Amino acid sequence: MSDNGSRTPATLEMGDNRRAELPILSGSIGPDVIDIRKLYGGTGCFTYDPGFTSTAACRSKITYIDGDEGVLLHRGYRIEDLAEKSDFLEVAYLILFGDLPTAAQKAEFVHGVTYHTMVNEQIINLMRGFRRDAHPMAVMIAMVGALSAFYHEDLDINDPHNRLIATYRLVAKIPTIASLAYKYSVGQPFIYPQNHLNYAENFLHMMFAVPCEPYRVDPVLAKALDKIFILHADHEQNASTSTVRLVGSTGASPYAAISAGIASLWGPAHGGANEAVVQMLAEIGSVERIPDFIRRAKDKDDPFRLMGFGHRVYKNYDPRAGVLKSSADQVLDLLGQKDNPKLAIAKELEKIALEDEYFRDRKLFPNVDFYSGIILEAMKIPTSMFTAIFALARTVGWAAQWNEMIEDPEQKIGRPRQLYVGPPERAFVPIEQRG
Ligand code: ACO
Repeated sequence: MSDNGSRTPATLEMGDNRRAELPILSGSIGPDVIDIRKLYGGTGCFTYDPGFTSTAACRSKITYIDGDEGVLLHRGYRIEDLAEKSDFLEVAYLILFGDLPTAAQKAEFVHGVTYHTMVNEQIINLMRGFRRDAHPMAVMIAMVGALSAFYHEDLDINDPHNRLIATYRLVAKIPTIASLAYKYSVGQPFIYPQNHLNYAENFLHMMFAVPCEPYRVDPVLAKALDKIFILHADHEQNASTSTVRLVGSTGASPYAAISAGIASLWGPAHGGANEAVVQMLAEIGSVERIPDFIRRAKDKDDPFRLMGFGHRVYKNYDPRAGVLKSSADQVLDLLGQKDNPKLAIAKELEKIALEDEYFRDRKLFPNVDFYSGIILEAMKIPTSMFTAIFALARTVGWAAQWNEMIEDPEQKIGRPRQLYVGPPERAFVPIEQRG
């Protein structure tokens, strides 16, 4: 970052002789930022930015998004290249440690993850306390949070080795926890991890195997799922990642911070959208009914929105949606579902929306959730597990961002300010004198 003070600072003149000179910082790529850390001390003013639409809350080297161009880079590598040429644990290594691994580094990382996949049996006992119809995301929030009760004694978050162990545990155990939540919801016996399987294969095995017969993992499905994991691994300072950083900034356990991230991801405006997309496509039901739903999406008096469309940062095609669109064709073809009606509706919906002035003017394009649900559904993954799979993959990004935050000497406890609009100070009125 070239913030060595050589740039001319921004000047804020307030018309009442209050004036602030604010340094401008430049990243390696992307917009400059105005450093307002001294604004309050110098002027007595805060900035107002609900939804943080113009606020950079940290420096980060992990992920870069150019929303106008539709570009997503992890540690400098394009997501399209990573999805095509790499695999999930390799991308996880890249996101966590900064560079693609050598063969030896990869083998060590894969071994480390593989040998941390089991959960304490008490976690399974805890899970048995839930109602069978509990949503897997609710179970995951609780179970990942509960890990903090199991690994508190050997967790000094200021010790890099302790953080590394916590990172391994999180990345390794999250597929086990997600699949346990699913098995519990359908009343089937829990299936333990198998060390001879890779990350995606192991997850599919824990989801779909039963003890009474052998289960063969379909390599095509495992590959497609691995790609979905890659595409969801990190996405810079979105709502759930910011939640993880905010909780982590207090010095809380990473398990508690990531549990909070899972809660944040669950909302339909964020990770919950993949589930909502499939429900929406089912509700639309046929290509002929699309115009009616487009009309509803444009009607301000109708709460209906086109799920899987629009993004706070992308004002162009989400590159992850591009990868998934072609992946959907391949996977459905291989699964003998070439004429999948939901895919046909999705493609036509996308075509009509992209030609429509309303969507064009607002730069609303398909996001990652638009096609992922269709692929997951074709793979017989139940709808309630879609967001859980997103959380599973994003755990890598959350862990990387949490580590980066702890290591950053500039980070402070997250503590936004406010514009107070309530009553000014007033005298207390005894109850008999009120009304
Ligand atoms: N359907 C119809 N209209 C939309 C949609 C949509 N999906 N998304 C945005 N708009 C409209 C808004 O009504 C608004 O119109 P206006 O300017 O006339 O008032 C305009 O586009 C701008 O939208 P905002 O809500 O201000 O944009 P914001 O950045 O706050 O919201 C969000 C982004 C939450 C993703 C939104 O596009 C949305 O709700 N999309 C559907 C849910 C979804 O797919 N979420 C997944 C996002 S990706 C992810 O989290 C992994």
